[in-house]
Amino acid sequence: MEQRSNQEEKELLAVIQKLLNLILFLLFVVIVLLYFLIFGIPRPGSEATIGNSLAGSSQTAMLQTEKKSAPAVWTAPDTTQLPTGELRKQILYGKSLIANTALYLGPLGSVAHISNGMNCQNCHLDAGTRPYGNNYSAVASTYPKFRERSGKTEDIFKRVNDCLERSLNGKTLDSSSNEMKAIKAYITWLGIKVKKGTKPPGSGIQDLPFMDRAADPGKGELVFTSKCISCHAADGMGKLNADNKTYQYPPLWGEHSYNTGAGLYRLSRLAGYVKNNMPFGATQASPQLSDAEAWDVAAFVNSQYRPKGNISKDWPKLAAKPIDHPFGPYADSFTETQHKYGPFGQMAALKNMEKEKQKVKQVN
Ligand code: HEC
Ligand code: HEC
Repeated sequence: MEQRSNQEEKELLAVIQKLLNLILFLLFVVIVLLYFLIFGIPRPGSEATIGNSLAGSSQTAMLQTEKKSAPAVWTAPDTTQLPTGELRKQILYGKSLIANTALYLGPLGSVAHISNGMNCQNCHLDAGTRPYGNNYSAVASTYPKFRERSGKTEDIFKRVNDCLERSLNGKTLDSSSNEMKAIKAYITWLGIKVKKGTKPPGSGIQDLPFMDRAADPGKGELVFTSKCISCHAADGMGKLNADNKTYQYPPLWGEHSYNTGAGLYRLSRLAGYVKNNMPFGATQASPQLSDAEAWDVAAFVNSQYRPKGNISKDWPKLAAKPIDHPFGPYADSFTETQHKYGPFGQMAALKNMEKEKQKVKQVN
């Protein structure tokens, strides 16, 4: 008898042991699943997916911001932190206008026909949230601010209209329009975590180190042919989607591209943008071009035909003109060609010296 119950006890213990193992295993599975649910499944190559849709782009943005958890670089606030009610709707409409500008404001737009068919997002990637992708992190924290280009204090409305008139070669939006109010609401919400007066790392476009030679459009054409044509097309005009309203790949020059008054028409802006973001899928952490390739391809792209912008009132103070502004007159004696293509080192050094002199004058 004793022996049998001992035997039974052993069997019971074995069963309990197995059950415990099973429970432990299930617990492990649940924890792993929860981990992936919370932190997302790492999808290699997800950066290369091209999504102009609102959902698509915010997903890529979220994946990217989570992957790049280097503490210093700015990440956008999570959409789960959106306010409720009317403000929420307004912010989401603003995001949609940034991501799908052409649908609303392009040549065949549903609201107005005031822009060239490009989207803000073409140059402000992931609806203005991508680190080093010309994001909007520092807009709410630094505007209104004095800008040398206009010689005036600009608010967010004015700055958005600048891009509408120049980068989208179009017309301005009234600050009382639903569209402008929505864009401002979205950009302001994006910057909620940023301290007033500061610019977080990864904001805007990165400054590349200068080359000791001028950027070379001839060398740039080779880069363009091997690394850009597949999407932006051999004639640089990009590719329209089947709807004939929106671009799958935006144009890099020509009638429907940014005009000569746009920020990207300055070589340093275009080179910095391209280096960290193109070919599409490249990032600051894994660029696909050398600095020289970025400068050269920028020189090639900005040597092609594009619409003329109205820059007659720009840079009222000559000394404040950026060294890579491609139109004279200038406060120094370097040629227009050197201001457009470089070499920039000497020009920059001279400008810094002038600035120091001004400072000393002010102190005295
Ligand atoms: C062709 C490219 C392009 C397009 C399209 C474009 N922008 Fe810009 N935008 C730029 C560049 C370049 C800058 C200046 C970045 C710099 O100097 O570092 C800029 C700057 C800005 C800024 C100021 C950013 C800052 O931190 O000071 C805002 C706001 C802005 N754009 C809004 C918009 C909006 C809204 C749209 C769509 C209506 C738009 N942009 C479309 C290229 C573009
Ligand atoms: C795999 C496709 C692909 C390749 C290759 C590619 N791009 Fe792009 N490029 C895009 C897409 C898509 C956008 C718009 C991004 C968006 O709206 O989210 C874009 C946007 C741009 C823009 C800003 C908008 C505009 O049209 O002015 C520039 C400038 C640009 N690319 C330059 C280049 C250069 C230079 C190369 C080659 C070094 C290149 N791209 C290679 C897909 C590509």
